[in-house]
Amino acid sequence: MRRVSLEFVEPGMKVGRTIYNVDGRPLLVSGMVLNENYIQRLRDYGIGSLIIKDDMFEELEEPPDIISEQTRLESVKTVKEVFRNFENKKRIDLKSVQKTVNILIDDVLSNRELLINFSDIRTYDDYIFSHSVQVCVLSIITGLSMGLDQLKLKELGTGALIHDIGKTRLEKELLNKPGQLTPEEFNEIKRHSEHGFEILRANREISLLSAHIAFQHHERWDGKGYPRGLRGEEIHLYSRIVSVADVFDALVADRPYRKAFSTNQAISLMRRMSGTQFEPNILELLMTNIAEFPIGSVVTLSSGEIGVVVDTNKEMPTQPVVRVVFNKRWKPLTTVREIDLIKDNTVHISRILTEEEVSQLFKGVLSVKRTATTS
Ligand SMILES: [Fe+2]
Repeated sequence: MRRVSLEFVEPGMKVGRTIYNVDGRPLLVSGMVLNENYIQRLRDYGIGSLIIKDDMFEELEEPPDIISEQTRLESVKTVKEVFRNFENKKRIDLKSVQKTVNILIDDVLSNRELLINFSDIRTYDDYIFSHSVQVCVLSIITGLSMGLDQLKLKELGTGALIHDIGKTRLEKELLNKPGQLTPEEFNEIKRHSEHGFEILRANREISLLSAHIAFQHHERWDGKGYPRGLRGEEIHLYSRIVSVADVFDALVADRPYRKAFSTNQAISLMRRMSGTQFEPNILELLMTNIAEFPIGSVVTLSSGEIGVVVDTNKEMPTQPVVRVVFNKRWKPLTTVREIDLIKDNTVHISRILTEEEVSQLFKGVLSVKRTATTS
C-alpha cells in the first residue's frame, strides 16, 4: 500500500483502496488493475493521488482507519446535505450534525490504539465536505488526548464539523478560483469566519462555543491571524485545536494547484510554525496520534539500506517497523528482514524517499518480476 500521485500512476498498477465520490458511489474499486482509460477517468474526476497495492507486498493489509469506511461516507454525505440545506432553506439541520458528531466520537473512542495513517482520497469538488469530516476527526482525537469529557468533545466536534459553514455565503467562483487571489478577493474569503459565527450564533440550540470555532479558527497563537488578531489563550481552546487540525488536513490533501505534502513533510512544516501559528502543546498532542511514516512509506535507514514501513508503533509514532528490501546500492536483497525501530536503537530512519525515487526504485524491480512470471 502506498499513496501515489497521479503523475506517477501507471497502467498495470493495482488499486489498493476504493475511491468514492461524495454521494458514496464508488469511482474505482479496490483490486482493479489500472489501464489508460481508468487513469484518464481519475484525471477527469479531479483526483490527485490514489492508494495502490504493489505485488511485492501483496500480503500487507491496509491499516485500519480510525473511523470506518461507512462512517466516513455517511458523514461526508451529511456535511454536504447540511451545507446545501443551509443554502436553500437558511437553517442548519442540527440533528444531522449532532448525530454525525456522536458517531465520529464513538468510532474514535473504539479505535484509540490506532494511529492516523492516511488521509482519505477526495475529488477536488468534494474537498470541503471530506475536509470538514477529517478536521472533526482530528479535533476529537486531540480533544480526547487532552482528556476532554463527552460534553466538551461534542461541542468541539460540532464546531469543527461545520467550521467553514460561512463559506456558503461566498460566491462559488471565488471559492473555486484556481489562480492567485487579488488582495480584495482574499479579504472576501477571510470573511467566512464572521459569516460562520453569525450563522451559528443565530441558532440558539448550537453552543456559543461551537459558534466561536467558526469565528476563531483562523486566529494564530502569535496574534497574527484573522478576523480579530486574538493571541494565545484569548483564542478559545476549541479553536486552537481546530486550527491545528485544519492546517494539517489541508497540507496532506491534494489541491488543484499543488500536490499533497507527505505526512512527514506536513509535520516538519507545522513544527516550524509551533509557537507562532500554533499552540505548541496542542500541535504536539495531535502529532502523537499521527503515523509520521505511514505504512507503505519507502525510507532510507541510517545503515544506507532501503525499506518499506510495514507497521506502526502507537507508543512511538516516529519509530515504525521497517522491512528492509534494498541494499545501499538500491539492489533488491535476497533475504528480507524486518526491523522494529523501537526495539533496535542501532538504526533509525534517515529520510523518506521522494515519489520520483520510489517510482524509479520500484519500476526496475517490478518489471523484472513481471518478465520472470510471464516467461
Ligand atoms: Fe476556514
